[in-house]
Amino acid sequence: MRFKLIIANWKMNGSFQFLDEILKNFGVETQFGGTDQVVICPPYIYLPEMSNRLVKSPIQLGAQNLSDYSEGAYTGEISAEMLLDTGCNYVIVGHSERRALFNESNDLVARKAERAIKAGLTAVVCVGETLEQRQQGVTEQIIAEQLAPVLAILGLEANSDKLVIAYEPVWAIGTGETATPEQAQNVHAFIRAQLGQGLKDVPLLYGGSVKPGNAAELFAEKDIDGGLIGGASLVAEDFLSICRAMPA
Ligand code: PGA
Repeated sequence: MRFKLIIANWKMNGSFQFLDEILKNFGVETQFGGTDQVVICPPYIYLPEMSNRLVKSPIQLGAQNLSDYSEGAYTGEISAEMLLDTGCNYVIVGHSERRALFNESNDLVARKAERAIKAGLTAVVCVGETLEQRQQGVTEQIIAEQLAPVLAILGLEANSDKLVIAYEPVWAIGTGETATPEQAQNVHAFIRAQLGQGLKDVPLLYGGSVKPGNAAELFAEKDIDGGLIGGASLVAEDFLSICRAMPA
C-alpha cells in the first residue's frame, strides 16, 4: 500500500551529544501530521544507541548505506543482516553522494537494493540528474538508466512493500535550491510510469533542499509521497514541521 514517508538523512553529521539534543526535542513525539512513517538515518556508529532510545517511539531507524555482500572478508563493510540486527528497517541506497564520491554504479546500486530487500530491509533507492544533465534535456533518460537495473533485478512484479524511490536532483541537494513542485511532480510522474502496474504502490520521495517553507507545496503534488531530508533534518524543529506539512 502507498503510504506517506519522511526520512532524515543525517549524512556524516552527529555525535552522542547531538543524539541527546535532537531526541530531547522530538524523540517522544508522536504527532507527525499526515506522515505515516518517520525514519531517521544516522551514521552507522550511532545506530545501536538510537535503536535503544527509539524503543518507545514510532520513529523507525535506517542506515545510509550497506554492503552488497552478506558476510565475509570485506573489511570495513556493513551487511544488511547487521543492520537488521541493530534495529534498522530501512536503508538508503545509491545516494548521489555515494554515486559521485564513491563511484557507485547503477549496477552496484541495484545489487545493494536487492541485498537489502532479500534480507528484509526496505531499500530507499535514490535517483536524480545533475544540473548539466537537466540543461541538456536528458533528465528522464538518466533516471530511466538509474532505475533500469533495479527494476531488472527486482522485477516489475516485485513486492512493492520493500521498495521506496527517492528523486533527488543533484543540483538541489544541499544547495538551498529546490526543484519547483511542478518540476518534481513531472519527474515523479515519469518514475511512476516506469514502475508500472506491479509497483504502482511504491512510495516516491522528493529530496533536495526541502525546508519547512517549501515542504507543503511539494507534498501537495499527487505523485510525491514524502521527502528525504538532509540539512533540515539536523534541526529538530525544522524536521518536525516538515513532517507536519504532510497533508492527511
Ligand atoms: P538536503 O539533502 O536536504 O540537505 O538538500 C537531501 C539529501 O541529500 O538526501
